[in-house]
Amino acid sequence: MTDHRPAWAPSEVDIEQPSAARMYDFYLGGSHNFPSDRALAEQYIRVLPDMPVIARAQRAVLQRAVRFMAEAGIDQFLDLGSGIPTAGAVHEIAREIEPGARVVYVDCDPVAVAHTAALLDGVEGAGAVYADLRATASVLNDSVVGELLDLTRPVGVLMIAVLHFVADQDDPAGVVEAYRQATVPGSYLAITHATSDYHPELARKAEAVYTRASHQISYRSRDEIAAMVAGYELVEPGLTDMIRWRPDPRSGPDPLGGDVTRYSGYAAVGLRP
Ligand SMILES: C[S@@+](CC[C@H](N)C(=O)[O-])C[C@H]1O[C@@H](n2cnc3c(N)ncnc32)[C@H](O)[C@@H]1O
Repeated sequence: MTDHRPAWAPSEVDIEQPSAARMYDFYLGGSHNFPSDRALAEQYIRVLPDMPVIARAQRAVLQRAVRFMAEAGIDQFLDLGSGIPTAGAVHEIAREIEPGARVVYVDCDPVAVAHTAALLDGVEGAGAVYADLRATASVLNDSVVGELLDLTRPVGVLMIAVLHFVADQDDPAGVVEAYRQATVPGSYLAITHATSDYHPELARKAEAVYTRASHQISYRSRDEIAAMVAGYELVEPGLTDMIRWRPDPRSGPDPLGGDVTRYSGYAAVGLRP
């Protein structure tokens, strides 16, 4: 049966193919997803019932990392794999600290890019780019990137919950390195990444669900993830369980009782030397 296509869905979108971006939107309680996305996301939640909480924790890391960078003086951001916009977008958070902050959002999901562009309508200094982050040269040479970001000055590069969608054969560490080389000293990188360290069997089951999605997911070990950020000087507390990366003392009790094994994900922020 063909899914009903809402008016806002860009015509090039295959709404029968579950998308990693729209499944994530579903975990976060958003409405920019189709029946095929919801069906696979629900299957994933059956394997990993904590996923909606994990997704929120990941958004919280993104926001803490952006605040950290803005407080360090970063006023331009390149958000790679930015997803479907939700409350607390990067430009909103950054501008609480750096009112003139510029942000380029990059994603390869047409629905994510269309909604980001709609959100940014009338917003100066922020733009959305439809691109595959693995094509580093074409992202870096994109006209919107060139217009909004000055790569001769420090940039905050964000790769939140996206490197686990870059397969080993696509060399995720090499992709990170290409962006590192394109930025000047004083730039920062923030990442989060799903790990197989705590529940390897669950991780394999979770990976199996995503073989039906637009992007395969690879849960990796701490060492594999550390290798991706090896070119950066990690700020305290280094590569750590995501809820332990500079937790906000103002946030309430942890919904999973602070059990890092249930989050199964690491975070790090590094300074480009
Ligand atoms: C789990 S979501 C995370 C979204 C956002 N970073 C956040 O933290 O809320 C992963 C996003 O990465 C995007 N993505 C995956 N592989 C990508 C690629 N090669 N190039 C660009 N975007 C990619 C997906 O489309 C999706 O929107």
